[in-house]
Amino acid sequence: MLAAYPQIICIASGNGGAGKTMVATNLSIALQRMGKRVMVLDADLNMPNAHIALGAHSANNLGHFLSGEKTLQEIVVTSPTGVRLVSGVSGLTNLTQRHAFSIVQSFCTLNEEVDFLIVDTATGVTPLTLPFLTASPKRFMVVRDNPTSIAQTIACINTMVHDHELGDIYLLINGMANPQDGQRLFDRINHACALAIGQSIHYIGAIGQHDSILSALKTGQSVLDVAGASDAAYDFSALAQATEQLPPMGYTSGRLEFFIEQRVSRAH
Ligand SMILES: Nc1ncnc2c1ncn2[C@@H]1O[C@H](COP(=O)(O)OP(=O)(O)O)[C@@H](O)[C@H]1O
Ligand SMILES: [Mg+2]
Repeated sequence: MLAAYPQIICIASGNGGAGKTMVATNLSIALQRMGKRVMVLDADLNMPNAHIALGAHSANNLGHFLSGEKTLQEIVVTSPTGVRLVSGVSGLTNLTQRHAFSIVQSFCTLNEEVDFLIVDTATGVTPLTLPFLTASPKRFMVVRDNPTSIAQTIACINTMVHDHELGDIYLLINGMANPQDGQRLFDRINHACALAIGQSIHYIGAIGQHDSILSALKTGQSVLDVAGASDAAYDFSALAQATEQLPPMGYTSGRLEFFIEQRVSRAH
């Protein structure tokens, strides 16, 4: 029987602190609440912290997988939100691109039914992010509404497009005073991309600047848990609906190959 292919989305950014982890975790919770089956891969090999926002406690993480102590399956945990998590590496230094590739490739061994795999990465296009950016069929670029972030985002998209032939890039504007202005800011950035890079990108949505996000994080919870009727929750619900409406990935034999193998091998 044919099974729907899960949507795999890599959350990326050109500048640090853009809000990748905040978006990856809250979008995942919002999708899970819509009845979707969601897994987060904490692929930030520099500073993994998705487990904090998901309130997930796991004795094992990708470090145990990379050292051979655990299989990938053994380190999957289900957070109180229902979102499953593969916790990021801690306790290992000197990670290389080879480690990132082995994480990507191990996903075809997982026996998990998911509708969405959300991949939280480190900043930029680097040897440690490229395997995840390349293996994910879609990428959300998180950008802040300031000139530095916008310039770094356009530079990053340029590298993705011209050096690595990556398409399906969606812009997600974070921390806007007024998220309703997101489309207008996107139009400007998209125009700049078309001029500088020769390729246009897509718009996926905007998230406002919300103090409730940080206060929730301080209690080890997501803003959707502590302020379910807030403006932040509204923004994430709109983002989850836009994400759900993305073009489907097509169909596969039912085997859970999270990442597309030929893309992975092309990037070697
Ligand atoms: N829309 C927002 N409103 C308020 N705080 C935010 C928002 N987005 C991110 N933050 C805060 O900014 C900081 C950096 O966000 P984070 O998701 O960790 O960035 P990244 O993963 O891109 O490095 C965190 O403390 C986070 O809670
Ligand atoms: Mg992060």
